[in-house]
Amino acid sequence: MLIDDLTTPAVLVDAQRLDRNISRMQAKASDNHASLRPHIKTHKSVDIAQLQVDQGAHGLTVATIDEAETFVHAGFSDIRVAYPVIGNDKYERLLNLMDDARISFCVDTPAGVKQASSFFADAGREVEVLMEVDVGHGRCGVPFGKPDEAIQLAKQIVNAPGLQFAGLLTHAGQGYHGPRDGETPEHALRRASLQERDRILDVAALLFDAGVSAIDRDTFEVSIGSTPTITYFENTERDGLTVTEIRPGNYVFHDAIQVGLGACPLDDCALTVLGTIVSKRRDDSGTERAYIDAGKKVVTTDKGARTDGYGIALYNATYMREHPHVDITGLSEEHGWLSIPGAATFGVGDRVRFVPNHACVTVATQHELVVVDDDEVIDRWPVAHKTPQTDA
Ligand SMILES: Cc1ncc(COP(=O)(O)O)c(C=O)c1O
Repeated sequence: MLIDDLTTPAVLVDAQRLDRNISRMQAKASDNHASLRPHIKTHKSVDIAQLQVDQGAHGLTVATIDEAETFVHAGFSDIRVAYPVIGNDKYERLLNLMDDARISFCVDTPAGVKQASSFFADAGREVEVLMEVDVGHGRCGVPFGKPDEAIQLAKQIVNAPGLQFAGLLTHAGQGYHGPRDGETPEHALRRASLQERDRILDVAALLFDAGVSAIDRDTFEVSIGSTPTITYFENTERDGLTVTEIRPGNYVFHDAIQVGLGACPLDDCALTVLGTIVSKRRDDSGTERAYIDAGKKVVTTDKGARTDGYGIALYNATYMREHPHVDITGLSEEHGWLSIPGAATFGVGDRVRFVPNHACVTVATQHELVVVDDDEVIDRWPVAHKTPQTDA
């Protein structure tokens, strides 16, 4: 079957680009003597996770308990929930996975530590937890620059029954903010990357200096990662401590946001959306407007730091180069709005292929990914969604 024969909208994965992205990131981890624990929230695909593990990934990162269950049930045996897990319902579900897999998750508040400790101690089990640190993103984690808070929480974890203090974890989401005034994209990425690495190592060294961690330096995890910040990541040593693990996710596909940040060239983008022009008109200014059958229910309205539209339109279904005359200027639920100021002509029924702004949320709208090699469809991989839960 060829791409032209597909029903639209469809989300395509270019097999060669995917493979190249996976092996490059694996090489990056190995060159820096760190484990790669890819975040699977990007693809939610057992098939892609298997490719990552086959190439050397050590365990998987997930964001939700649903994802943890899906991937343990699929046979993956080392799962880190990079999220502060709260609630006995969720601890119970993780406990149920612990006979089949090594499970860990994040804690970042005294209340969170207390709740997790109480549940796992009552269950007579010990679960690995990582203390989340905020190195500048402003989301979860003990804020960098508050050493007393970090030491106090670490001491609480070490003394909490039912919990095993496995290490520190951070995600420098500020890498997505783009350049500040006068900064180049490369400089902005290097700044965020250094902040992520140096700040987490500072906190790790602080805890050892304060005599907090009874755990030896060889097993203490220092886990970092996002696709933009890993672009320029180089490991370093601080008081015998190094980054032990990187957790990028988006890199398997990349997307228009990563291209805009300078984290990758367009040629690395492995995930595209295929739509069909369902209507067109010429507006009073002479601009051709076309409407495709892929709107915000396929690609979402996410823009990240991009200011120019909802994706990068490509020449046609098989020619993966940017189309300079086509902009995706708007989205309604079922329609993508294209603006074609000149030079290009499109007819109703023509196919349009584009790199969406944010691959991870695009995947989450789908039930399957269509795997392609040039213009040929070679496979279809299911996207794992929420497993139905019954209330206890
Ligand atoms: C905690 C955590 N770790 C790792 C990642 C992976 O980052 P990226 O999607 O930039 O590769 C994310 C992304 O949201 C995250 O929230």
